[in-house]
Amino acid sequence: MSVTRNLVTFVRRWLGERLPMDDIEHFVAKQAGKPLPPHVSWFHTFGSLSLFLLGNQIVTGILLMVYYRPTPERAYESVHFISTKAAFGWFIRGLHAWGSTLMIIMLLLHVARTFLMAAYKKPRELTWVIGVLLFGAVVTFGFTGYLLPWTQVSYWGTTIGTEVAGSVPLVGPFAKRLLLGGDAVSGETLSRFYVVHVIVLPWVVVFLTAVHIVLMRTQGLATMDPVGKEVIPEGKSVIPFWPHHVLKEMVVFSVFLAIMATMVILLPQELGAKADPLVTPAAIKPEWYILPGYQFLKYFPKMLGLAVSTIPPLLVLLLPFLDRNPERRARKRPVCITVGVMAMAATVLLGIAGHFSERSVRIFGRAYQFDHFGIPHRSPEAAR
Ligand code: HEM
Repeated sequence: MSVTRNLVTFVRRWLGERLPMDDIEHFVAKQAGKPLPPHVSWFHTFGSLSLFLLGNQIVTGILLMVYYRPTPERAYESVHFISTKAAFGWFIRGLHAWGSTLMIIMLLLHVARTFLMAAYKKPRELTWVIGVLLFGAVVTFGFTGYLLPWTQVSYWGTTIGTEVAGSVPLVGPFAKRLLLGGDAVSGETLSRFYVVHVIVLPWVVVFLTAVHIVLMRTQGLATMDPVGKEVIPEGKSVIPFWPHHVLKEMVVFSVFLAIMATMVILLPQELGAKADPLVTPAAIKPEWYILPGYQFLKYFPKMLGLAVSTIPPLLVLLLPFLDRNPERRARKRPVCITVGVMAMAATVLLGIAGHFSERSVRIFGRAYQFDHFGIPHRSPEAAR
């Protein structure tokens, strides 16, 4: 014990002769001691869980890079090697794949929490705007990572995704060529997606996350008081960040890690067949988080659809500047909450319609064929 104490004293003195340790300690103590508003609950751990999952993606992603090879000849084989031969490769790959899905779910919950508690209002507009950019970057992470295993689904899923980008008025054809590095998904596309996935996006996301967290720590978490009347929390009712809230975060991190490990073991990631540019599989669908947008585009002619589909993300980005009501409590913001909840419900319904479209499904013993628009029709099989 005294050896440890002596070592700590030595390191502190050594650093103190080289760095302003008193200032650093004062800063850390100030951050740790920051009081949180009394309404802070388990719902406020969604943001730190997103951070935890980002850490998981970075660590497992670096480990996967050891064996992964970004060429059409070796990509599939290298992922197969990771899944079947590399020590704990299947586990690391599972953590990365499930981690990406869970991160998007967690971000959606985090956005829903900050929206319902109106934490985006003045002075936190920039925190929200950076958050929306972060969400876009995380979805792009998923989109670029999807191609890397070079399977049939990833090859054709990417073909559909880049076609959607290509149909954007004016800039579309250029964007499509830039993404593909040619006219179709090829080795060029794979190396572009790889660079974006392992170099560009990690820096963008780490930088934006750092700004997001610094803003949040500087302004403190939002209280439920109206804009301009926020009372800085003090007194007995406040929750200290350290150790109370940090302990809560440690509990959710541990539970989450256990859930993730269980999912990796019980629901392992299948690899599927290797990409074959000459064989188009039936009814290829993009990943679930792109599905609502993809389905939405089906209901409009191409040009109009893309013009209409840029409006909802823009409204979300500009929400803090559009919603001028100073109130934060949900019951005092009926219009905003109604519109928001309806938008969330519509997104879920579009996702469901996208999932079932062009599939036949049995519901309560009856067979239905879902058409291109996700509308069910009694299939002839049911009539028999
Ligand atoms: C990688 C992505 C993200 C990470 C790691 C992250 C992390 C965090 C953390 C740790 C907090 C404080 C605790 C909490 O409120 O849960 C926070 C607060 C906040 N985040 Fe995020 N966030 C991310 C994305 C987003 C997105 C997509 C949005 C909205 C579109 C957003 C909006 C906000 C707002 C408005 C606050 C302030 C909350 C308040 O004052 O009560 N964040 N974020």
